[in-house]
Amino acid sequence: MTQTIVETAPAKINLALHVRARRADGYHELETLFAFLQDGDELRFTPGAPTFEIEGPFAAALSGEGDNLVLRAARGFAEAFGLASEGAWVLEKNLPVASGIGGGSADAAAALRLLARVRGVALDDPRLFAVADALGSDVPACLLGRAALGTGRGEKLEPLGDLGAIPVLLVNPGIAVSTGPVFKAWDGVDRGPIPAGTTIDRARAGRNDLEAPARTIAPGIGDVLDRLAATGPVLARMSGSGATCFALYENDEQRSAAANTIRTAQPGWWCLESRLA
Ligand code: C5P
Repeated sequence: MTQTIVETAPAKINLALHVRARRADGYHELETLFAFLQDGDELRFTPGAPTFEIEGPFAAALSGEGDNLVLRAARGFAEAFGLASEGAWVLEKNLPVASGIGGGSADAAAALRLLARVRGVALDDPRLFAVADALGSDVPACLLGRAALGTGRGEKLEPLGDLGAIPVLLVNPGIAVSTGPVFKAWDGVDRGPIPAGTTIDRARAGRNDLEAPARTIAPGIGDVLDRLAATGPVLARMSGSGATCFALYENDEQRSAAANTIRTAQPGWWCLESRLA
């Protein structure tokens, strides 16, 4: 009997993202506070003949893409562990694509966690993290899947204490933004480290240094941030290289009221009501 295995790929947000330096290898030295939500994409795997299907609300945005990160993750896993990883994959794409909340990185990490489970590999196996690292800067953080301070390209991780199920609203104005050009548009000014303190205090005292360059590429981000700020959140900020922005609230009622206000004003925008994982 073949069994289908399911793994969620939670959305990632950057509570703060400080760009400290341009590196000779084309990447940037970062300091970032990663956090994860209770909602995300879903990945299903059935051992057997190799197929790959994408379904869900954002499937169309990915359909033209040749080599999905899920399949690259499966190949990386097979090479690193000498274990076959063939099977039928179904990716339910619930999160907008190229939007600063993990996306392909979260899916790749979910594929690695799923295959590790199937093949009896420990989730903290350093070889699993090496595969993740080779797939992308955010994949190790997504593999860890819990709040962490990321340094280097974002791949050096230091787990942080549990943040609790803080209510979160995600808003995307329907603009896809590529990460590379946003980093390229950064002005090269080091504005300093994330201050010390509790994680939420650090987040509030921090910044997203990619916000200004992302806004030059996608000015609509400013409108999202203004609308979120007007709903009285604990914190409102762009995530990653954008264009998705998030807001944290004191309670679910405030978050839902904010979501309703934004949905009414901008019915075409994507809004997700969730909580920190
Ligand atoms: O690592 P990943 O392939 O996800 O990164 C995508 C692009 O984002 C890189 O090619 C690079 O242009 C940029 N990037 C960067 N510095 C980082 C992470 C990503 O410049 N720390």
